[in-house]
Amino acid sequence: MWREAIEDAIGKIRRNLEQHPGTFPHITNEKRYAWSANEDWIEGFHTGLTWLSYEYSQDTFFLDEAKQQIADFKQRLGAKICLEHHDIGFLYGLSALAGWIVEKDESARNLALQAADHLLGRWREQGGFLQAWGPENDEKNGGRIIIDCLLNLPLLYWASEVTGLPKYAEVAYKQAELSRRYLVRGDDSSYHTFYFNKETGDPLGGGTHQGYTDGSTWTRGQAWGIYGFALSYRYTKDPAFLQTAKRLLSYFLDHLPEDHVAYWDFNVPIKANTSRDSSASAITACGMLELMDLLQVGDADRSWIQQGLNQTMNSLVNQYATIGEEAEGLLKHGSYHVRGNSGLDDYMIWGDYYYLEALMRMERGIPGYWYERKTK
Ligand code: GLY
Repeated sequence: MWREAIEDAIGKIRRNLEQHPGTFPHITNEKRYAWSANEDWIEGFHTGLTWLSYEYSQDTFFLDEAKQQIADFKQRLGAKICLEHHDIGFLYGLSALAGWIVEKDESARNLALQAADHLLGRWREQGGFLQAWGPENDEKNGGRIIIDCLLNLPLLYWASEVTGLPKYAEVAYKQAELSRRYLVRGDDSSYHTFYFNKETGDPLGGGTHQGYTDGSTWTRGQAWGIYGFALSYRYTKDPAFLQTAKRLLSYFLDHLPEDHVAYWDFNVPIKANTSRDSSASAITACGMLELMDLLQVGDADRSWIQQGLNQTMNSLVNQYATIGEEAEGLLKHGSYHVRGNSGLDDYMIWGDYYYLEALMRMERGIPGYWYERKTK
């Protein structure tokens, strides 16, 4: 079953690359991607899909495409195009770092390190946090962190491993710990974002950007937390991160509807037209696979996590994937920014990426591009 899903996905990725050369897929409400230049936070997912396709097929068509995309990312970093945000891990982890992991390409490794330096530049020493969005003096965002950042931290942990310089991992660890303390709530739900005083680092309060309300639980944020804390545990071995990933996962699975795929927020009233976010469930599937790899054989938590994984992947493959359909995307019914009326009930490129990452891990044991494969 997984093989058929993977081969269907790779056929679609090939067709997209042939039909939209030199461009990247972006968010619409059109059931088609908008193909344009490399200048948002999401382009790395397209490159990650290209790398996964190459790893599965060994077809050099995908390798050549991935290398061309890395060249585009290099140009982007040099010209500093739309990089005043923390999503550098999504962009350069799935492009340059992947190029190093798969091909041992030294220039890709150097590019990934330059990207890590750029991300490190967003550490605000006075406040003690990695600023999510905007320039340092930004009125609204100057003191803001968001839970999504946990998926950008692997680039920093990796940079310390490869250079031997602790400064990257120290920042990543502090940010993960800050996120654990302020973004995760006592009932194992999460805030999307949290604000701090820029000068003193004093906590000001939680809120949301893409969730239903400031105090609600945005499902994709919870998913970023599950996978992100699991990855921080892999790198640091701090048991608090493992425990946090499990707590967030338990909340996520306990609040799913009958078909095991999340709506866009756990607190939104469910009506006939309420949007799902299949991408949140795809990210969570990867988080569960990561946890299964980290937990010892015999660990008491393995059985409920395995059950959650089976239910999620069976539902995604059988009810949400575009297998056999004429489609650009791999997963239907994703949501980007429901409050902002953007990306409603449509393909999300990161949903496609995490869906294929999960399938590849189950079928081939290939875990994506968040760490070098020797690390365990
Ligand atoms: N990182 C932005 C999002 O998940 O929509």
